[in-house]
Amino acid sequence: MKVLVIGSGGREHALVWKLSQSPHVTELICAPGNAGTSGARLRSGNPTTNAPITADALEALREFAVLNRIDLTVVGPDNPLALGIVDHFQAAGLRIWGPNRRAAQFESSKAFSQDFMLRHHIPTARSGVFTDATLARRFVAELDGRCAVKADGLALGKGVLLTHSTPEAEKAVDDMLLRGSFGEAGSRIVIQELLEGIEISLHALCDGKTAKLFPTAQDHKRISDGDQGLNTGGMGAYSPAPFIDDVALEKVGKAILEPWLAGCAAEGIDFRGLLYPGVMLTANGPKVLEFNARFGDPETQAYLPRLENDLVELLSSSIDGTLSQVPLRWSPMASLCVVIASEGYPGSSPKGLPIHGLEELSGQSRLQVFHAGTALQDGRVVTAGGRVLGVTSWAPTLIEAKNAAYAACDRICFQGMQFRRDIGAKALRD
Ligand code: AMP
Ligand code: GLY
Repeated sequence: MKVLVIGSGGREHALVWKLSQSPHVTELICAPGNAGTSGARLRSGNPTTNAPITADALEALREFAVLNRIDLTVVGPDNPLALGIVDHFQAAGLRIWGPNRRAAQFESSKAFSQDFMLRHHIPTARSGVFTDATLARRFVAELDGRCAVKADGLALGKGVLLTHSTPEAEKAVDDMLLRGSFGEAGSRIVIQELLEGIEISLHALCDGKTAKLFPTAQDHKRISDGDQGLNTGGMGAYSPAPFIDDVALEKVGKAILEPWLAGCAAEGIDFRGLLYPGVMLTANGPKVLEFNARFGDPETQAYLPRLENDLVELLSSSIDGTLSQVPLRWSPMASLCVVIASEGYPGSSPKGLPIHGLEELSGQSRLQVFHAGTALQDGRVVTAGGRVLGVTSWAPTLIEAKNAAYAACDRICFQGMQFRRDIGAKALRD
């Protein structure tokens, strides 16, 4: 089977790594990929390769898939899904995994998601959707200014402002609705009450009728230790996150997924893909902060080493509507991924810096360095983006996984590299 993976981050390298283990895969191409997604050996003996087509070039990707007779396309990032890549491929008779454009609205429009949650009684924050600044200001005053003010559209994870006073919240509202600081994405906003608690990531694979929950994971969104500094795409993740046990997780999953599935059925939304609710465990129970419609990054780098199913078979059952017959199987090991980023991230960062130490880490058992912003230049691996690597280890206990991942980080070197030292600390505290 010829498989195409779309995207170029750590998540996509993890998808390529896992798919490359499947006996079903004879050729595996990543578009556009990174230095890690090419050159790995498949069971067929063929190496994985990259194709230089960006993830949002829908027409070029479709042409490529037709010309190369791709049997299955797997979409990593949110943007092509929001643009309707699944509908576009299906119109040409191609087999593709991911939600169609309508279903991808759970991520591409926070207002759509929030209204859906209210309509279908999915536990979420007290909230409102606004296009009018006067009404929005009235609502933030009701919340005493303790709000999450969110641009409706995709904003690379930067469209959320957390405020703690009414003037601060009013400024956030005005910036988005009146001053257009998030462009079109901010012409409609969601305002939520500011919730307190422990934040976890849930993932559920869906086939339009059934949703199967993964174990828990936790991301680390801020740039610096102790959750300080700017928000990022995610600086590290681990799984499982021990804040709720399996019984509680099942309850949380039910509380969110049952009304979500019923709502999708009632509204004719056919979601075949990965639903990723960001959830706050509050004193008043779990509350959904947002839905994403794809695998998390870096959660995927922590999940996939624990997944024992063949990923081709799993994604196929999600496309075909046969997921109810497929039990998900997880290794009891804990996994932990530390993201190494470039100097300046999450702001702009230099590119083309040589990365040292990768070769001696390759082939180590229960350790995988997933590439994100990397490229090959004259045969050398160099930096090519903000988040550069996701160093992942898995082991019988979280502390062992953490120690192994950090030991590996300490052997990697490039100019200006930065990473958090406290990935997993919340889980290891007691
Ligand atoms: P989102 O993109 O909606 O997940 O928001 C980005 C981050 O902002 C989340 O991962 C949370 O850390 C934080 N956040 C979002 N909504 C809320 C909320 N209602 N209360 C507290 N923190 C929030
Ligand atoms: N882990 C954050 C994200 O994938 O959006």
